[in-house]
Amino acid sequence: MYILGINAYHGDAAAALIKDGRIVAAAEEERFNRVKHCAGFPAAALRYCLAEAGITIEDVDHIGISRDPSAHLHKKVLFAAKRLSQIAASSSRVEFAQTSVHHRDTENTEDAQRKSETPASPNQPNGNGRASGIFRQIKDRLGNAAKVRDLKDDVARALGVSKNSIRAQFHNIEHHRAHLASSFYVSPFYRAALLSIDGFGDFISTMWASGESNAIDVLGQVEYPHSTGIVYTATTQFLGFPHYGDEGKVMGLAPYGKPRFMNEFRDIIRTEERGQFRLNLDYFRHHSEGVDMTWDEGSPIIGRIFSDAFAQTFGPAREPGAALGDRERDIAASLQQRLEEVGFHILNHLHEETGLTDLGLSGGVAYNSVMNGKILLNTPFRHVYVQPAAGDSGTALGVCYEINNSILKRPRGEVMLGAYTGPEFSDEEIRAELERRELVFKTYSDGEVTRHAAQDIADGLVVGWFQGRMEFGPRALGNRSIVVDPRRADMKETLNQRIKKREPFRPFAPSILEERTADYFEQDHPAPTMLMVYQVRPERRGEIPAVTHVDGSGRLQTVSREVNPRYYQLISDFEKLTGVPVVLNTSFNENEPVVCTPAHAIDCFLKTRMDVLYLGNHVLRRKSEK
Ligand SMILES: [Fe+2]
Repeated sequence: MYILGINAYHGDAAAALIKDGRIVAAAEEERFNRVKHCAGFPAAALRYCLAEAGITIEDVDHIGISRDPSAHLHKKVLFAAKRLSQIAASSSRVEFAQTSVHHRDTENTEDAQRKSETPASPNQPNGNGRASGIFRQIKDRLGNAAKVRDLKDDVARALGVSKNSIRAQFHNIEHHRAHLASSFYVSPFYRAALLSIDGFGDFISTMWASGESNAIDVLGQVEYPHSTGIVYTATTQFLGFPHYGDEGKVMGLAPYGKPRFMNEFRDIIRTEERGQFRLNLDYFRHHSEGVDMTWDEGSPIIGRIFSDAFAQTFGPAREPGAALGDRERDIAASLQQRLEEVGFHILNHLHEETGLTDLGLSGGVAYNSVMNGKILLNTPFRHVYVQPAAGDSGTALGVCYEINNSILKRPRGEVMLGAYTGPEFSDEEIRAELERRELVFKTYSDGEVTRHAAQDIADGLVVGWFQGRMEFGPRALGNRSIVVDPRRADMKETLNQRIKKREPFRPFAPSILEERTADYFEQDHPAPTMLMVYQVRPERRGEIPAVTHVDGSGRLQTVSREVNPRYYQLISDFEKLTGVPVVLNTSFNENEPVVCTPAHAIDCFLKTRMDVLYLGNHVLRRKSEK
């Protein structure tokens, strides 16, 4: 039985396909169309999934999408009605909308960015700003509902087939149920507590549950407009990082600051009984005036979420590109600490309610690897499974398993330990691409390739490492990676100058042989998808300076032979040469989506100052190198 899952009309559009409960393929659309965090419909990812399975859409039995416009409809209507009556009661205050929630056609990212900075477009109706904002939010949701209903049309169009050729049954899976399913049904747990912690999806920001065998029992949720993800995104914007997905930059900035604004952030987001929390809505605009959000083709654009209360409390917002000072660092530190407090508040309640010590974690906020790494220290949970595509792309996979297990009650079969579910290319395909470009390359045997690469890394070269199936989710895990020597303190600067061009305060991450984790880190719970940050043992920090952050932490990937044998061998060979079972691993890209094909990898190699590129068993070197 084939089940196809789709995340569409939202950031990180993706498709996933399972067969008889096992993953055949899962990938984000951005890897194919090269538009970061691409929203819209994942046409190329869908075609890839079917091609990987060697089937056509006629063979697919069920198709689902991770949205359900009918979910919580009464709450949406009640919320809108309440807001409108509040606005009517204060109608003496006439404010004109600066922005509103609606969809716009975006020809390209730059243009979309320009548009998002433009005040209300002239073709939008004027009037009371907040009222029109609410009306537009309703219109937006109806628009999304219509799109979801058109899913069959979009699938047919993407594949160039008639709608009548699709015999599959269609399902709308509520957004957070898809997140929860993605972190449970492919986890190693038969029973587990589950938390989806997020911005928003289907009017909910946070949902927790207990999972057992083939069922997920929802125990609690936090509704719009209250959201930890919204607090993080709003503060990220205030700190001058306006792009979708910039929250990770603020997480990287936080360790440079002191959390001297805890009182302020405890007022901005307040915890309540039974795992609940609420925002002080004075600080936000998303619930009242509406906020620009573009989910059409292209990178998502989110307008300004924070209100003027942020400036009243913290001073003026930082302009993008302006110098970062102590204030920005301290705000980031306070935000991060408050997020952790709220996260542990929810998790401790979830443990109390379920009595369970195994946890499945998902949702966009589950990308906060600093918070994740502290869960075992601050809650009774003992084992944590973080879905590698914890954000919205992973809901495509969650949809497949919600249908397979919760709905169809079919047996569980897959434990997803890695994230290697994307396209792969044979040595013959890679050779053909190299020859087509008339590039000079060498070919090694399986045993030789990791030994040569390990030597290159130890020699201080910047090594492109393109192997096997592409990763699902944001982290490169040793198949689409750039790998360098973590012992060299200057490697961070070298990578930034020559390839990545990232802000200097952002850390680079270590990959370590799983069984050596405790030798280098203060915790050793496996982190195979690089979604946990632990403290590097103080005595080891000087040994691996390029992957030790300013606070002594590292966002590690634990690598086992079972999950990724070739990458494991590479690090083992590096250890034989150097005595250090750690390499620095950063994603294979230059300010673009992670490379997918050999052609992307070669393009990136040629346009950056990477020294050597391993593509399967083939090796391409810069002429100046050996
Ligand atoms: Fe989500």
